[in-house]
Amino acid sequence: MAPIQNARVLFNSVPEKFPMPGGTTVYDTTQTIDLKTVPLDGGFLIKTLILSVDQYFRNRMRKPEKKSFVPPFELGASISGYGVGRVLRSENSAVEVGKYVYGPEMLHQEYAVMKELGPATVLEKHPDLPWTVYVGAAGMPGQTAFTGWKEYSDAKPGEVAFVTTGAGPVGSMVIQLAKQAGLKVIASAGSEEKVKFMQSLGADVVFNYKTMDTREVLAKEGPIDIFWDNVGGDILDAAIEHAAIKARFLECGSSSGYNNGHTPIKNMSMVSQKTLHIHGILVFQLLPKYYKEFYGTIPAKLASEEIKYNEEVTNGLDKVEDVILAVQKGTNRAKAVVVVAEE
Ligand SMILES: NC(=O)c1ccc[n+]([C@@H]2O[C@H](COP(=O)([O-])OP(=O)(O)OC[C@H]3O[C@@H](n4cnc5c(N)ncnc54)[C@H](OP(=O)(O)O)[C@@H]3O)[C@@H](O)[C@H]2O)c1
Repeated sequence: MAPIQNARVLFNSVPEKFPMPGGTTVYDTTQTIDLKTVPLDGGFLIKTLILSVDQYFRNRMRKPEKKSFVPPFELGASISGYGVGRVLRSENSAVEVGKYVYGPEMLHQEYAVMKELGPATVLEKHPDLPWTVYVGAAGMPGQTAFTGWKEYSDAKPGEVAFVTTGAGPVGSMVIQLAKQAGLKVIASAGSEEKVKFMQSLGADVVFNYKTMDTREVLAKEGPIDIFWDNVGGDILDAAIEHAAIKARFLECGSSSGYNNGHTPIKNMSMVSQKTLHIHGILVFQLLPKYYKEFYGTIPAKLASEEIKYNEEVTNGLDKVEDVILAVQKGTNRAKAVVVVAEE
């Protein structure tokens, strides 16, 4: 078999602000691969099917000397992230040909040789779910919501929760977990379409934070006992102002500052005055404790629609760069997923 194209998305330069297609990253079609003969060296050959585009990519687009909780992308090499691939050839007895591998370091290229599974797993799919869901509600974002909520919410029926970015894969799962726990849920998002989706999930009070004043909503509907923070910045300040005594703050993300710099929090003195409990969340720290429970319950609930999800699927590896920009700008309409190949 003659070598075929192996297109890739390469990290090309560290962005100042937003990551620009053709600048921060480049789509490269110069590499070829011979699927029959490419050496595996004890590893396995993957055909990439599904790739997730997430906000933490922005953190990885940094200079290598800057430390963070995830490694930086390597300049000139393919970027990577959560994804699903099918095994084409294997020299690893734990990874059979025809099986599907899900992991956090799937290369953004059409084909890839993986030396070892590492943090990836061989995954069985629920028969009624598409693979796309396994990078969203049934993958890392859903796990973030599930594990963070279980570990830190200390939720009691009748309490009030405020969820930001409530139409995304993390926030939408949190809204539903909070409703199932008997809470009143206030949820915000950045478009009317997203507001409607949050309403369909059962949130009691939904609003567009771009057209309504978050402080006014919280003054009327709060005080809040649980704040699920995906955005940080001024909305975090507003939540502190409208928090009840001993409220729990589940600090998951701070998207308001990823591209333009983080704004300082002004209300820190209220943290002690209100005896707030602030919990930082990192999904990969919490997942081992909840792994079995998550995969044992959530895919079936998604398949039966007991838990709902939404996704925005884009076709083609060549579109990854545009999707990255959309997720950083917040113009993605739901969980951003790129289908690289059907099977
Ligand atoms: N700690 C962890 O382990 C962990 C794991 C996964 C995700 N996270 C974090 O959880 C948050 C939600 O993730 P997700 O995957 O559910 O997000 P997502 O909805 O798929 O995409 C990002 C969304 O962020 C929102 N956003 C809010 N303020 C923004 C701003 N200033 N600029 C751009 N976008 C803004 C936008 O929605 P609106 O239109 O509603 O503004 C945008 O659609 C993110 O902060 C992410 O970094 C943390």
